[in-house]
Amino acid sequence: MNKLSVKGGKKLKGAVKVHGAKNAVLPILAATILTDGEVVLENVPLLSDVAVFCQIMCSLGVQIKQEGSTLTVCANGLDIQANPDSSLSQRLRASNLFLGPLMARAGRARLAFPGGCAIGSRPMDYHIKALEAMGASVELTDGCIDAVCSGLYGAEIYFDFPSVGATENALLAAVLARGDTVIKNAAREPEVADLAGFLKVCGADIRGAGTDTIYISGVKALHGGSYQVMPDRIEAGTLLCAAAITGGEILLCGYDGQSLAALLHKLHDCGCLLGQTAEGLSLTAPERLKAVDIRTQPYPGFPTDMQPQMMALLSVAEGATLITESIFENRFRHAGELARMGADIKVVGEVARIIGKPHLTGAGVEAADLRAGAALVLAALAAEGESQISGVEYIDRGYQSLEQSLSALGADIRRIKL
Ligand code: EPU
Repeated sequence: MNKLSVKGGKKLKGAVKVHGAKNAVLPILAATILTDGEVVLENVPLLSDVAVFCQIMCSLGVQIKQEGSTLTVCANGLDIQANPDSSLSQRLRASNLFLGPLMARAGRARLAFPGGCAIGSRPMDYHIKALEAMGASVELTDGCIDAVCSGLYGAEIYFDFPSVGATENALLAAVLARGDTVIKNAAREPEVADLAGFLKVCGADIRGAGTDTIYISGVKALHGGSYQVMPDRIEAGTLLCAAAITGGEILLCGYDGQSLAALLHKLHDCGCLLGQTAEGLSLTAPERLKAVDIRTQPYPGFPTDMQPQMMALLSVAEGATLITESIFENRFRHAGELARMGADIKVVGEVARIIGKPHLTGAGVEAADLRAGAALVLAALAAEGESQISGVEYIDRGYQSLEQSLSALGADIRRIKL
């Protein structure tokens, strides 16, 4: 139960590198279960969510070796009777990504229902519907999803909403299914395309990943291979916002901002100067940011995972803002904590109205989830005086040594070990 202590008021300045993407590496790790032979994954971020995910995989008989940011994975010894440990999988929403690969590889899966979490109820109905369309029988008993099949076959799947996880689970199930699968209204997030990129390296036949229609022709087996995980666009966006909120300047070394277009447009409208060169993506902040409205949407719309950080930033912008959160029903829990630092925020349903203040004031605040934690760190960087942020374990789930990246840019931030 550590805390972060931040003394605000320093303009961040400098160059940093973005780590590998949490939301890409988790589905890719799940996909290694489908392969015969050795998989080498590079640019793997060292995060607590990745560690828990690997722990679950090892308990299923998968061998994983780690050397720095490289993981070598071999799923040849997968125990097809084993179930993901329920206490571990309940800690991690992304454990739902074991469903597709286990069904494809073992013909059965029993998974503790990941349940709700701080940001919303997060049901599994689309995942289940996709597997049923491919021939699985699924029951919900004792808080578990119990699924069996005698082989999966290709199907046409349509999602009412382009869910990232359900698209990934359907893709994971379809690559080894008999025949062709089409996923319509699929999520277009870059992490879905990265998962497909990895599967293709291992011999899968996939077209259209990254668009709203994905075509998969099932193959008999997948082999091993090497793959470099994409950089984390949300970490990149968070670091850009850290520079912007402090009136600073940043270069994200070697980073290509294409997958962050929605955020970059908003930062531009706030008055930031952005530049993309061979060296990377740069941002120079104005003296005072201007208010802009935000509506979260599936990719390529504005990412919900950047909404809390933008709320922090807009709390000190000039003018009034409306933020509409249309993906998760309970993703404004940072608003109350930002208010403790002096932000003027009123939440009504899915809309938050913010009147920008010239300054925030340091305070003791608590992160309720990962991105809320990042938002509080950003607010603290801009605030007058010292803030202490608890709930750091949430931040560690998705940011590899955030305080080190920020210190390297000149922030006065340190971890207090309690
Ligand atoms: N939904 C359903 N039924 C389903 C699945 C989803 O109604 O069966 C709803 C959800 O309740 C939500 C919406 O669809 O309202 C979108 O959920 P989605 O399935 O797209 O989200 P996810 O796959 O559970 C991933 C990321 C999240 C990110 C969302 C949206 C991973 C491991 N997680 O979650 O990341 O917010 O997509 O982009 O990829 C984070 O990193 O902080 C994080 C929460």
